[in-house]
Amino acid sequence: MPVITNIEDLRRLAQKRVPRMFYDYADSGSWTESTYRANESDFQSIKLRQRVAVNMEGRTTRTTMIGQEVAMPVAIAPTGLTGMQHADGEILAARAAKRFGIPFTLSTMSICSIEDVATHAGEGFWFQLYVMRDRDFIERLIDRAKAARCSALVLTLDLQILGQRHKDLKNGLSAPPKLTLANMINIATKPRWAFGMLGTSRRQFGNIVGHVKGVDNMGSLSAWTAQQFDPRLNWGDVAWIKNRWGGKLIVKGIQDEEDARRAVDSGADALIVSNHGGRQLDGAESSIHALPRIVSAVGGQIEIHMDGGIRSGQDVLKAKALGAQGTYIGRAFLYGLGAMGEAGVSKALEIIHKELDITMAFTGHTDINTVDRSILLPGTFPTAST
Ligand code: GLV
Repeated sequence: MPVITNIEDLRRLAQKRVPRMFYDYADSGSWTESTYRANESDFQSIKLRQRVAVNMEGRTTRTTMIGQEVAMPVAIAPTGLTGMQHADGEILAARAAKRFGIPFTLSTMSICSIEDVATHAGEGFWFQLYVMRDRDFIERLIDRAKAARCSALVLTLDLQILGQRHKDLKNGLSAPPKLTLANMINIATKPRWAFGMLGTSRRQFGNIVGHVKGVDNMGSLSAWTAQQFDPRLNWGDVAWIKNRWGGKLIVKGIQDEEDARRAVDSGADALIVSNHGGRQLDGAESSIHALPRIVSAVGGQIEIHMDGGIRSGQDVLKAKALGAQGTYIGRAFLYGLGAMGEAGVSKALEIIHKELDITMAFTGHTDINTVDRSILLPGTFPTAST
């Protein structure tokens, strides 16, 4: 077993151990993947200012997201089909997050259901909601998240129709995978994954199967999205969802100042600057580039989070410096999960935490809450006007 020292090591191991269609599903952006790549590369061009002879003892990365204490300003992002990267993936990742002291967000399109995660990983996780045409189903989903004592609802606003990811079409992505010859040959080279899957009954979209009548082609995310997601979603819907939920609400998918103001008006507790990991509007700017504009427009009025491109603690620190109170990791935890299950998610969190802690010290800070854009080299970071 190679020594794992960074997220890229976990990615490589996941690529070896996870069937191609699920690895590719995670490691994809839409169309040319330009936004997917920009999310990562725009972090690289931001430079940190090195400070020396500053007392580095007694460091803390503890802070809050929507008023909840977190061990570092990082939450696990909602990702579809997590339980296909590794058997029982959502339960394992939720456990690792809980142990570490950060929020886990369960996707509507998860394999393990809300109830299953609550039973096997404990309550308090966050639930991500997609809005479907069938409003009764959505009301029931919200009520189920409440009954499972989820402590925040993350409402995704940027995926009512699906951006095309070429690899998913070419691979015939479905959950569970269809037993075609090509899939069987590929799965035969992933024995750890296959044994895990044989040992679990969780192989379908757990929040949906058994909860919605008359839906065909349940295994295909793209078919399900096309048939069920409501393309008419609007800000009026946010109001009734907030009302029905009654708890902390986070709206996800904001890139534009006007939308940010609508998010403030909606009464949400936080917004997430996000382009869905470069999986929707190919050609959109990177999240880290959009962040300062959104902070400048509404920063005093609503808590601002961001996701997209975070592969290290250095990235978390840069997002924090540019005004994000919290960040989310999607692929970074999925690679850990695919590589080594629960231990791999813990490893991903430890790697990011250590990078964040030590890099913060090198910039002259011992408390993450004191970090601001003064740690960044002028001229190397995006501003509200760039
Ligand atoms: C779903 O959330 C996806 O991006 O595939």
